Amino acid sequence: RSDGSAEKEKTLAIIKPDGLYDNCTDKIKNAIFDSGFRIVKEMLIQLDEEAAVSFYAEHSSRSFFSSLVKYMTSGPVLIMVLEKENAVADWRALIGPTDASKAKITHPNSIRAICGLDLQKNCVHGSDSPQSAQREISFFFKEKSSGSAVTEHDEL
Ligand code: TYD
Ligand code: MG
Repeated sequence: RSDGSAEKEKTLAIIKPDGLYDNCTDKIKNAIFDSGFRIVKEMLIQLDEEAAVSFYAEHSSRSFFSSLVKYMTSGPVLIMVLEKENAVADWRALIGPTDASKAKITHPNSIRAICGLDLQKNCVHGSDSPQSAQREISFFFKEKSSGSAVTEHDEL
């Protein structure tokens, strides 16, 4: 590419089922662009149980796990690869704390405060480290030759 973006960091963002209602998707995308991210890839998919279980495997022993999987498979989700300098930490800062109901008090300008509802329905996902980002991006956007479970879309 000619814009030097190959050197910039990438992170995985997901707009969860509760973030795809009403005008929340527009609000979230505006926040993404206003904060200087580029959406490198995006796809709207319906997660099946196997994909949700696998994506959230680190939480498989937690009491909220089955409820989380049920929620994440309850409707379509928008998967995005975001790119900018310091993308991983900056996206986590922009989305705010996990519990959207607490975010409304402590981080009222965060995406979770604005579009989320509670600890489960918190409208967006963000990779928690550069290592997680790499793993999560390749989870959804595998090399074309490796036979991905999900279809890769062209870059925007
Ligand atoms: P976690 O990785 O701790 O949060 P984050 O999304 O901020 O990285 O948890 C993953 C998701 O699991 C979280 O977004 C919402 C859900 N969750 C619950 O439903 N209940 C809980 O008690 C926790 C900690 C998370
Ligand atoms: Mg997490």
